[in-house]
Amino acid sequence: QIQPVIMAGGSGTRLWPLSRAGYPKQFLVLDDSNRSLFQQAALRLVDLAAPDLAVAAPLIVGNEEHRFLVLDQLREVGCDPSAVLLEPMGRNTAPAITLAALQSQAGGTDPVLVIVAADHVVADLAAFTAALQQSARLAADGAIVILGITPDRPETGYGYIRSTPETGAARVMQFVEKPDLATAQRYLAEGSYSWNSGMFVLKASVWMAALERFRPDIAAATRAAFDASTTDAKFVRPSKALFAAVPSESVDYAVMERCPQSEFDIRMVPLSAGWNDLGAWDAVWQAATKDAAGNAAFGDVIAQDSRNTLVHATSRLVSVVGLDDVVVIETPDAVMVADRSRSQDVKKIVNLLDAQK
Ligand code: GDD
Ligand code: MG
Repeated sequence: QIQPVIMAGGSGTRLWPLSRAGYPKQFLVLDDSNRSLFQQAALRLVDLAAPDLAVAAPLIVGNEEHRFLVLDQLREVGCDPSAVLLEPMGRNTAPAITLAALQSQAGGTDPVLVIVAADHVVADLAAFTAALQQSARLAADGAIVILGITPDRPETGYGYIRSTPETGAARVMQFVEKPDLATAQRYLAEGSYSWNSGMFVLKASVWMAALERFRPDIAAATRAAFDASTTDAKFVRPSKALFAAVPSESVDYAVMERCPQSEFDIRMVPLSAGWNDLGAWDAVWQAATKDAAGNAAFGDVIAQDSRNTLVHATSRLVSVVGLDDVVVIETPDAVMVADRSRSQDVKKIVNLLDAQK
């Protein structure tokens, strides 16, 4: 039995001003598919079943504030979740996965969790499905499986995995979350590293065992909050007071970095499917359909004598002349213009705004 889990409670600050706390990036349409990233994540899981693999309706883990966005967007694509776990506040992905693992075990079962992010685009659905099915079969035998991507640049926003070939699937020897640029450049030159796609496949009991082993504090605090949950139709709400006490940590730091060299069997299945995390405006530009001069336009846009720009208009006509490698994002109450290569630094603006609040 496979239990898909969609982690959908992130804030997506680097895609400001389009991505906002009340309406973060996973719920935005950022390509020409007409579907939000979250909807694409749900639709990608529809084909996962195989004769030997039964697939349950997905579990969604998101923020209380976005509950109607979650439900409305799922309804729009005809997806009926098995439950929506609502976090009263973000505590990052290790607690989010733990809530899903505990929920999935509620009926006394121990399914293979297929844990995916809600901020990815994937071009080749058949390759994606095949990789997840292979991962699920390995995970059924007890492995922790990471879907790995062949890197093409020294990206510092991703985790890096060093693996060695072995029968079945490559064994993960090292996991480094978000290295600095010099380290990422070295990994790229060495060639034996893959990116962590942020998708993990493992049994619920294996997740709980790994978390108990490496972060018993997160395991105990999340379990206490989950045990005090209230349920209202499909919504499951952990106790607010108890969840507030859960340490905030990502799955990558809490568990994955510590798994290699431990008793856990950690494997990597390569994913070659045109994968992209739309983490910052530069990535949105990379993934977009562009004109002959490399310009990507969303909404009512005129670009004259410009090259390799991304212009996103939401509430009025936006026109640009003579721009190279620039990002222009227009919304009713905020406009952001940036050098495309500085896309990661949009976070600094958001931090500044937060500090002024
Ligand atoms: N429910 C819930 N609660 N979901 C969350 C939370 C939370 O507190 N925080 C983040 N998420 C969701 C996001 O919405 C996204 O779908 C997913 O979890 C991953 O979070 P990101 O914040 O986007 O992580 P990242 O992109 O910086 O890094 C991760 O993904 C990379 C690949 O995309 C790491 O796993 C990296 O190692 C990896 O390379
Ligand atoms: Mg991400």
